[in-house]
Amino acid sequence: MAAISGLIRVMEKAARKAGGRLRRDFGEVEHLQVSRKGPSDFVSKADRAAERTIWDELRAARPDWGFLFEEGGTIEGDPTKPRFIVDPLDGTTNFLHGIPHFAISIAVQEPRLDGNKSINGGWGEVTAGLIYQPVTDESFWAEKSRGAWLHDARLRVSSRRHLDESLIATGMPFQGHGNVAEWSRIYQALAPQVAGIRRFGSAALDLAWVAAGRYEGFWEADLKPWDTAAGCLLVREAGGFVSDWKGRSLPYCDSQILAGNDVLHSRLHKILATAIKD
Ligand code: IPD
Ligand code: CA
Ligand code: CA
Repeated sequence: MAAISGLIRVMEKAARKAGGRLRRDFGEVEHLQVSRKGPSDFVSKADRAAERTIWDELRAARPDWGFLFEEGGTIEGDPTKPRFIVDPLDGTTNFLHGIPHFAISIAVQEPRLDGNKSINGGWGEVTAGLIYQPVTDESFWAEKSRGAWLHDARLRVSSRRHLDESLIATGMPFQGHGNVAEWSRIYQALAPQVAGIRRFGSAALDLAWVAAGRYEGFWEADLKPWDTAAGCLLVREAGGFVSDWKGRSLPYCDSQILAGNDVLHSRLHKILATAIKD
């Protein structure tokens, strides 16, 4: 049974409050699909309102911590204290199209111990993460060295050892994001060897689902810290591996991600590296 820390409780309270609102707004979006103007403006308002709710909750609980928001950018806090990294709505395109697969992602990142601001802006390890899916009411969370959890059930990455029984998630390139040729080479190399490849449209949930053993692996490029910070910690704390495409594991996540269970990560890395080498 998990002893949920005060910090995770604060993060979960913020995510649930914003998530309740997103759930109501999502109901509205379904009606707006057929309206002439479409739901775009409504959805950006919902996104910003969720971010605002999360900000109000978190700063009330940790007034001197900084923030990195997807929408609102950086808010400086006490430089000796951690910061929150927040994506108030991951899976925006799904939300906009009335597809109930989206989440809120909140992570906690520590300042670098050596204070070196020239590396990653002085930010170091991610030590807590929470991904909340409002529609299913699933709350995935992890804390450094305390494991990964779905509510109060411990998460472990899947134990599948063979590629031919593995389900792999990805994020495909789209308008202005990623490299279609590179992604296609990886897909061509991997697809014939695995049981299936999925593109569900929320990188945060893709990573949470690797941690929960639903997927054996995940790869995507061109991601941002708010997409991945919480999810990478979840995978690691569930016993999986996360690296960039060169196979390097960083204390935070890079924009290129390869996540996998403990057995398959290196196999997936070999396939990916061979596929993209000149
Ligand atoms: C996006 C989702 C998507 C990924 C994109 C992200 P957003 O985040 O995580 O799965 O493919 O690269 O930008 O825009 O919905 O917050
Ligand atoms: Ca996102
Ligand atoms: Ca977002």
